[in-house]
Amino acid sequence: MMHLYSPSSLLFATLAWGCIRDHAFHRPRSLVKRQSTPLVPLTTDEAILANSFDNNTLNDWNYYYTHGAHLAGTNRTMAQWTADRWSENGFQARLDEYQTFLNYPVSHSLSLTYPNGSVFKASLEEAVLAEDETTSYPNRIPTFNGYSFTGNATAEYVYVGRGQVADFEALVSLNVPLEGKIALAKYGGPFRGLKVKNAALYKMIGCVLFTDPGDDGNITVANGYAAYPDGPARNPTSVQRGSVQFLSTYPGDPTTPGYPSKQDSPRADISSVVPSIPSLPISYVEAIPLLRALDGFGTPGSQVNRTNWVGALNVSYSTGPAPGAMLSMSNVMRDAITPIWDAVGIINGTTQDEVLVLGNHRDAWIVGGAADPNSGSAIMVELSKAFGKLLATGWKPRRTIVLCSWDAEEYGLVGSTEWVEEHINWLTESTIAYLNIDVGVSGKSPGISSTPEIRTIATNIMKKVLWPTMPNETLYDAWFAESDGEVGTLGSGSDYTSFLHNGISSIDMGADQGVDDPVYHYHSSNYDSYHWMSTYGDPGYQYHKAMGQYLSLLAYHLATDEVIPYDLPAYTIALQSYYDELLATINSTSKTLDTSELAAAISQFATSANEVMALMDQAVSTNDAALKTVVNHKFRDFQRGFTSAGGLPDREFFKHVVNAPGIDTGYAPTTFPGITEAVEAGNFELAAEWVGRTSLGIRRAADILKT
Ligand SMILES: *[C@@H]1O[C@H](CO)[C@@H](O)[C@H](O)[C@H]1NC(C)=O
Ligand SMILES: *[C@@H]1O[C@H](CO)[C@@H](O)[C@H](O)[C@H]1NC(C)=O
Ligand SMILES: *[C@@H]1O[C@H](CO)[C@@H](O)[C@H](O)[C@H]1NC(C)=O
Ligand SMILES: *[C@@H]1O[C@H](CO)[C@@H](O)[C@H](O)[C@H]1NC(C)=O
Ligand SMILES: *[C@@H]1O[C@H](CO)[C@@H](O)[C@H](O)[C@H]1NC(C)=O
Ligand SMILES: *[C@@H]1O[C@H](CO)[C@@H](O)[C@H](O)[C@H]1NC(C)=O
Ligand SMILES: *[C@@H]1O[C@H](CO)[C@@H](O)[C@H](O)[C@H]1NC(C)=O
Ligand SMILES: *[C@@H]1O[C@H](CO)[C@@H](O)[C@H](O)[C@H]1NC(C)=O
Ligand SMILES: *[C@@H]1O[C@H](CO)[C@@H](O)[C@H](O)[C@H]1NC(C)=O
Ligand SMILES: *[C@@H]1O[C@H](CO)[C@@H](O)[C@H](O)[C@H]1NC(C)=O
Ligand SMILES: [Zn+2]
Repeated sequence: MMHLYSPSSLLFATLAWGCIRDHAFHRPRSLVKRQSTPLVPLTTDEAILANSFDNNTLNDWNYYYTHGAHLAGTNRTMAQWTADRWSENGFQARLDEYQTFLNYPVSHSLSLTYPNGSVFKASLEEAVLAEDETTSYPNRIPTFNGYSFTGNATAEYVYVGRGQVADFEALVSLNVPLEGKIALAKYGGPFRGLKVKNAALYKMIGCVLFTDPGDDGNITVANGYAAYPDGPARNPTSVQRGSVQFLSTYPGDPTTPGYPSKQDSPRADISSVVPSIPSLPISYVEAIPLLRALDGFGTPGSQVNRTNWVGALNVSYSTGPAPGAMLSMSNVMRDAITPIWDAVGIINGTTQDEVLVLGNHRDAWIVGGAADPNSGSAIMVELSKAFGKLLATGWKPRRTIVLCSWDAEEYGLVGSTEWVEEHINWLTESTIAYLNIDVGVSGKSPGISSTPEIRTIATNIMKKVLWPTMPNETLYDAWFAESDGEVGTLGSGSDYTSFLHNGISSIDMGADQGVDDPVYHYHSSNYDSYHWMSTYGDPGYQYHKAMGQYLSLLAYHLATDEVIPYDLPAYTIALQSYYDELLATINSTSKTLDTSELAAAISQFATSANEVMALMDQAVSTNDAALKTVVNHKFRDFQRGFTSAGGLPDREFFKHVVNAPGIDTGYAPTTFPGITEAVEAGNFELAAEWVGRTSLGIRRAADILKT
């Protein structure tokens, strides 16, 4: 379930943070009235960490990352620079290299020939701005889709809304011809690769993707705001680049499923996980003539009866096709097996069989990336400095801390997936949690998504950090106002995916664009720039500081507390709510499904969760070190049980039986995915099988927790 902001929306239960994601607006903050939570005082160690964060150095790091091209696999210097900073601050740092399949843009074109023979030729360029120095860098890379198909297409075209299967089904029921046509799809909602996948499924021969200002919240030109760089509204020429891999089927290097990409690795056929038709992303200013040429043809948007079909441009969003209006597109890519570099920095813990991993990707769709991902990268450098100060006092973490700077996330979580595949045995033996920060700051609206056991500590730590919006406001207050206290469920869209689907507790965090914040030009290589960040996104770098303090304090507790601060009954509550949702989904069909085995498994989990908390209390009250270790290992390992039942149907990579990205959403999660998606597809035989497999996974997790 992805959602667009609407004033009547009350609660968004799930948010998908991360860079290849859609953003979801929350309700305006003014609607929320609550008492402020007092700032919880910091311990000495916490104060050393928090006080180390300096907005000026955060600005310096963000400046560095945003003044050189760093498309995946193109900037080893930047990887080494990151490792060197971590190394200076006391981490043992190295680069891990993989030989991955990527493709790079060579040439492209798009033109519309009207029935009268006149031609509109799209520039496919973002405007160069005098105010923003990196927009004119000579090595800036064209607007394109990563992993896109090399090919040409010339045909009439159809507007397909957000490009979900349900959108195409609506067109089929309206008798709009699809076969042999080109799809014009609006960004937003599902992951872009799935729009292209679905277009091909309906026998269309190309796909053009456009950004619509209807997804920008209040800060639009139509509402009287000037466009960037003169004001906070979207620059009309901004283009959302991005990968078109089929993220919900397989992330990572598509040529090496399940194993790391090395020089001599066998290479698999990739046709089932990347598109077989060409695609191009365009700006809204270049989408207007394409949409307008469809006005009056097919069914007007207002009568298609699909949510989010109509955007904010002055057109009718008619389906078309317009007879004789022809699009002609060409997309040429260069395939490469090419090195990528993950930087890795380690501080050994005193207990090395317990490991905490923190990660942020480094690659961007070229020079900029001020928010995505290098707000997070700047925070990670500053965090290493903060831990360096703590090390200087003689402090040692109980658990090993590992920092990772991933390459090639943008193409499909490639750097993290290959690294997890290489280190899988060590990771599943030792990792207690993975903390992800991708877009650390693109606005003022903080959010987290996580596995349930980590939510109590993650929200409590928010009470220790001041949020810059109002004097004395805590991060907790700001987050609560935006989310109503709901932590999101993880779908996909950033580097936690490989960790989660190998049964590792995970959290993703970031401050996103709120409905009244300056428009963040997601995946625009020209305008997700240092100039935008320092003028509109986070002038003063105070939000970077607050997010960095938060991540550091959370990492500190997970690495240092004698007992890992997990809340297992919170997992039970989540399972019960997912169970209720499943019953409602089943209930909305005309069939029945016996879910008693699942109910019994959840109840068994509840018992084990309560037992392990009692054991934890006993370990603490008796100060029994051996018992604490027993509890810590149960906390570390229980999630592995959820992934023990084999991969999900037709997508072996995704192994977690409790949550996964929806097969037709890519970003947004589905809970009990094996069962829910089979029910939604009307395959009750498969659903029954997955009641069994899901229950098995939950029982395995319960067995690990059992005392
Ligand atoms: C933003 O839009 C919402 C919904 O239309 C409205 O309630 C709110 O007042 C707007 N805020 C501003 C600052 O315009
Ligand atoms: C790599 O990034 C750095 C820092 O932004 C930049 O100075 C350098 O020119 C980039 N290297 C290449 C090859 O683009
Ligand atoms: C052809 O049609 C387009 C779109 O309606 C219009 O903008 C253009 O002026 C027309 N050209 C000629 C030569 O009539
Ligand atoms: C859409 O819904 C409206 C009213 O709810 C109805 O009049 C119209 O026929 C519907 N259109 C289609 C294409 O189903
Ligand atoms: C919308 O477009 C129509 C022509 O299609 C034009 O008459 C009208 O003035 C436009 N409205 C705005 C607000 O630009
Ligand atoms: C594809 O289109 C481009 C640009 O119009 C053209 O140069 C190229 O020859 C075309 N390729 C094929 C195979 O038709
Ligand atoms: C950390 O421990 C590993 C073995 O677990 C060892 O190889 C490495 O040298 C240690 N690093 C430091 C800085 O002590
Ligand atoms: C913020 O909190 C401090 C300490 O409690 C207090 O002295 C100060 O008056 C508060 N400032 C505002 C603007 O509320
Ligand atoms: C850092 O914050 C101070 C105010 O606290 C401000 O004066 C300074 O300009 C900020 N630095 C940057 C680089 O934004
Ligand atoms: C199933 O649907 C019926 C009718 O819509 C409703 O009364 C009942 O409460 C639903 N049960 C569940 C478990 O959602
Ligand atoms: Zn990102």
